[in-house]
Amino acid sequence: MNVRRGMERELALEFVRVTEAAALASGRLMGRGDKEGADAAAVNAMRIVFDTVQIDGVVVIGEGEMDEAPMLYIGERLGTGVPPLVDIAVDPLEGTNIVAKGLTGAISTLAVAERGCLLNAPDMYMDKIAVGPKAVGRISLDLPPEENLREVARALDKDVADLTVVILDRPRHNDLIAAVRQAGARIKLITDGDVAPAVAAAFEDSGVDIMMGIGGAPEGVLAAAALRCVGGEMQGRLWPEDDDDVARAKKIGITDVHRLLTMDDLVRSEDVIFAASGITDGDLLQGVRYMGHTAKTHSLVMRGYTGTIRFIEAIHRLDKKPHFVKRRV
Ligand code: FBP
Repeated sequence: MNVRRGMERELALEFVRVTEAAALASGRLMGRGDKEGADAAAVNAMRIVFDTVQIDGVVVIGEGEMDEAPMLYIGERLGTGVPPLVDIAVDPLEGTNIVAKGLTGAISTLAVAERGCLLNAPDMYMDKIAVGPKAVGRISLDLPPEENLREVARALDKDVADLTVVILDRPRHNDLIAAVRQAGARIKLITDGDVAPAVAAAFEDSGVDIMMGIGGAPEGVLAAAALRCVGGEMQGRLWPEDDDDVARAKKIGITDVHRLLTMDDLVRSEDVIFAASGITDGDLLQGVRYMGHTAKTHSLVMRGYTGTIRFIEAIHRLDKKPHFVKRRV
């Protein structure tokens, strides 16, 4: 009998090696004001390690189109080229400004799913709402923020005043922030990086209950992949800024750009693996610690097929990984 087992479980560890490498490489550049350099270091390290993984992967969310990104571009093949056939979403450095300034919450992250199962989200904005397992079925982007907060508070057996909502600190969120304040919930305004807080909402002791607001659509798919693994929920709605964005949405088959995108639209299978490594300290993951000849990384890897969640602390011998861990000069 041919028993279907999902992607091999060993792949989960392989994918953590990929995000660890990117975190080790880019964390070195924390606070240097060089977001491009930090991103390039993460991309390069991620690309090197990906090529050792036994998959036939294609990048569906990456650094950009082939003509604008030399590595990890959309359509690029990754892995050794043997089955399983998978879609790959990567954000080697999620939060380039965070690393450039040495702030909190930068991660390296990726999601891998069966071929054809990740929404090929174009690089445009998406309105999002994300919650953990207890609040599944209680949110809707069609509802005003105060109603979502009331429902989530009920689901978590809390008062609205106990909830912590993470929102990107942007002028476009002035009305949302006012509505959340009016409802009485606590708010954590972040400078960048809305994937990590969306994932954190799935962990009750993370200090984050809900992530709301408009951020990148590709980041939305990565967060949805994580929530798919852990049994949480995310909804999204594309937020086009001009006719080009509308055209790009249509190109991926979203003819009604105002359509509410559910978990099944964002990540079509539960056979998905999500991995992330902290670059700078955050609510869920610690940043890289450099200790002379060694460095410590803190990562999370989850497999939707079994629902297993692993936090992994790893010590790396930097002298054995010279190709992606440059010393400061
Ligand atoms: P980077 O691409 O510089 O890493 O920024 C990531 C990010 O902060 C996302 O987490 C977020 O979804 C998006 O940018 C927000 O976009 P904007 O900065 O244009 O508001």
